Amino acid sequence: MGVIGCGYWGPQLIRNFHEILEGELIGVADRRPDRLDYVRSRYPRIGAFADHRDLLEADVDAVVVATPIHTHHALAREALLAGKHVLVEKPLAASVDEAADLIQLAEARCLTLMVGHTFLYNPAVRELRRIVQSGELGRVYYVDAARLNLGLFQRKMNVMWDLAPHDISILLHILDEAPIAVSADGRCFVQPDIEDVAYLNLEFASGINARIHLSWLDPAKVRRTTVVGDKRMVVYNDVSLGEKIRVFDKGINIPVTDNFGEFQLSYRQGDITIPNIDWQEPLRLECEQFLRSVRTGEPPLTDSRQGLTVVAIIEAASESMRNGSGMVKLSLPWQDVSAAERSSAPAIAGNGHGNGHTNGNGRSEAGQIPAGQIITETVAVT
Ligand SMILES: NC(=O)c1ccc[n+]([C@@H]2O[C@H](COP(=O)([O-])OP(=O)(O)OC[C@H]3O[C@@H](n4cnc5c(N)ncnc54)[C@H](O)[C@@H]3O)[C@@H](O)[C@H]2O)c1
Repeated sequence: MGVIGCGYWGPQLIRNFHEILEGELIGVADRRPDRLDYVRSRYPRIGAFADHRDLLEADVDAVVVATPIHTHHALAREALLAGKHVLVEKPLAASVDEAADLIQLAEARCLTLMVGHTFLYNPAVRELRRIVQSGELGRVYYVDAARLNLGLFQRKMNVMWDLAPHDISILLHILDEAPIAVSADGRCFVQPDIEDVAYLNLEFASGINARIHLSWLDPAKVRRTTVVGDKRMVVYNDVSLGEKIRVFDKGINIPVTDNFGEFQLSYRQGDITIPNIDWQEPLRLECEQFLRSVRTGEPPLTDSRQGLTVVAIIEAASESMRNGSGMVKLSLPWQDVSAAERSSAPAIAGNGHGNGHTNGNGRSEAGQIPAGQIITETVAVT
């Protein structure tokens, strides 16, 4: 396999694929000579290509695209047309149309198309999902997420396209539900026309509300997700080394009474539980998933439809940001096909790489994805 892009993130992928024995990394492509020098000095046996087309013509079955977002569609498209399985770093593409085009190409050719939503391979996120799905929090009221730091500033995309894929993919995963409406507000402080601070507001059909605060302009490094339920609350703090998940047996006891005079809330201050988490590098698990999917056709945890959903949400949030932060309704018709249903569905006939994207309910057969089915509409905010 090969990696296209060896900037900030590419070296992490290269290190992992170089170490994993199930696959053989044979080449890296980057336009910058200094990055190719880095590859040659660290990995003398690996090919270093100034042009990604030379890598595609080499003997690779699969490639990873780890280049800036605006290049994802063109590079992934070329790789799929060349018959390669593709892992695209987050987000899958820069628009719904681009993402849908890649999915159609991959499905028509029975190739794996996976997106690098790395946090879903994080053992702490897996534990967070287990806690939320077990019902021990009770009815979930709301989720609050924050991803803040000083930098890394990007030139061609705003903070939302850069960071929101992490939080949105975590939300979709732990709630097992996609939002029905989204609004967003952003501010450009440092660079003209590129938001460096953004706030997203997501509404779910179950009544859950989620807020996401994103910033490249904050003194503290914060990566936190708080889920508040009527029985318990949980905080996932990715920056903490030993206490990434803390479950608080805290809450409000609401008395059942019709008499306003008797109405008095009591506060429950119970124990704090810190589950033990067996740590494994999330990116290693992501790379292993990709190789497994390429070899066996197993649908990846972070499949292309999830990539499309995340892109659709950010596209709708961008529309909201442009139009005074109005609510934008979302209809994601493929979302009600649960991952379990998809993975148990028969693979598309071919070379064993069907990815299970046929689903039996006629909504998402190969080649029928649906940019045109996505309904977004701005509605008045009251
Ligand atoms: N999963 C994660 O946690 C995570 C973290 C950081 C970045 N990322 C993603 O990784 C991707 C890369 O981000 P980055 O921060 O490394 O960017 P970067 O700008 O630091 O590096 C991109 C590299 O791609 C190269 N490149 C650009 N166009 C190319 C082309 N056509 N052919 C070959 N090489 C080309 C550039 O020369 C550069 O070296 C982005 O999609 C980003 O969102 C993911």
